[in-house]
Amino acid sequence: MASAIDILLVGIFSVMVPSTADFVTVKCQNSTGYSGQSSRLGCVVKSEYDIKIMQVFWKKGDIIVLSQKVDGGKQTEDERFQLADTNWMNSYDISLLVKDTQISDAGNYSCTADTNRGVSKASAALHIKAKYTEPDMTSKDIKDGDTVELTCVASGGYPRGTVHWFDHLNTNWTRSAKTTVTQMDDESFRLQSTFIPTDASLGPYKCVVYNSEWKEEGNKTFDTIGKNNRTDKVISGQTKNIAAGVVVIGSLIVGLLVALLIFRRRSRRALRRPSTQPMLGQCPDDPEAEAEELNSRPPPYEEVHKDPLVKSP
Ligand SMILES: *[C@@H]1O[C@H](CO)[C@@H](O)[C@H](O)[C@H]1NC(C)=O
Ligand SMILES: *[C@@H]1O[C@H](CO)[C@@H](O)[C@H](O)[C@H]1NC(C)=O
Ligand SMILES: *[C@@H]1O[C@H](CO)[C@@H](O)[C@H](O)[C@H]1NC(C)=O
Ligand SMILES: *[C@@H]1O[C@H](CO)[C@@H](O)[C@H](O)[C@H]1NC(C)=O
Ligand SMILES: *[C@@H]1O[C@H](CO)[C@@H](O)[C@H](O)[C@H]1NC(C)=O
Repeated sequence: MASAIDILLVGIFSVMVPSTADFVTVKCQNSTGYSGQSSRLGCVVKSEYDIKIMQVFWKKGDIIVLSQKVDGGKQTEDERFQLADTNWMNSYDISLLVKDTQISDAGNYSCTADTNRGVSKASAALHIKAKYTEPDMTSKDIKDGDTVELTCVASGGYPRGTVHWFDHLNTNWTRSAKTTVTQMDDESFRLQSTFIPTDASLGPYKCVVYNSEWKEEGNKTFDTIGKNNRTDKVISGQTKNIAAGVVVIGSLIVGLLVALLIFRRRSRRALRRPSTQPMLGQCPDDPEAEAEELNSRPPPYEEVHKDPLVKSP
């Protein structure tokens, strides 16, 4: 019996007496700030009643970054933090202003409003963006200046970005590049990408820096190889081919001459012993050798006198 009355009483009590959340609410919005500029985390106090805000606390994680009292008492570790609206006690706008935003200011904040009708709290995330510097391109000759290694560096950006490589036909060479990402003391990222173009005729090559949202932030083109020097490279390539051809043909000719020389010596030796080998049996498929052999032979009429046996058939 008593428990039923209790339940009834509790039920009536909860309907009639709303929690403090119903008196006062704080509403916040996430926002994005830019490094070096002022950022604002928007928060407002809402109430159906005519409330009085006594104090506002802004925390980042567990650390109070700003505590502002209605009588003007302000506490902050960092003067960059202040309330955006100096008339906050009347406007109920308790937004946080961060001057000269740093990348390290990014994070989750909470805002607490202490009023004469209770306390309310809300949270807001501050995202920070920092632009990357224009990429700086350097080149290094490798393999005795035959090949060039290109390095592109962009720094100071946030969040993490990427470096992509393209040739003059906009073919994506990023897969062949090696990119190192380093986070610096100020939490910004330094992107360093190295690429060795394999085909100078596809130049000029360019590196393009993209931010975390895949938007282009900067690019640099390397002109030294490619367009300007393309003809030189191609011609030197052809010269090399011609040189290689000359070497191959040259050795073939030398080989042939050597073979010819050996053959000639053999045939002469054969001539000196004509009785052992018949004349026609000596390589008839080499006309030059045959001609040579004929020339070295004594004129036929002399032979007639010397050796009548040869002439007789
Ligand atoms: C902020 O909060 C979200 C979840 O609400 C969490 O995923 C994120 O890691 C937090 N960021 C930081 C910097 O603590
Ligand atoms: C604000 O950011 C927090 C933490 O990143 C996230 O959990 C929340 O959904 C965001 N709120 C809105 C309204 O985008
Ligand atoms: C280029 O290629 C890389 C690696 O394959 C890829 O992640 C990237 O999205 C490509 N970039 C563009 C702009 O298509
Ligand atoms: C590359 O950078 C130049 C300025 O350096 C800019 O004018 C151009 O729009 C950028 N984009 C492309 C795709 O080349
Ligand atoms: C061609 O490349 C050489 C280095 O290999 C460089 O010194 C020269 O300036 C380049 N020429 C042009 C027109 O860019």
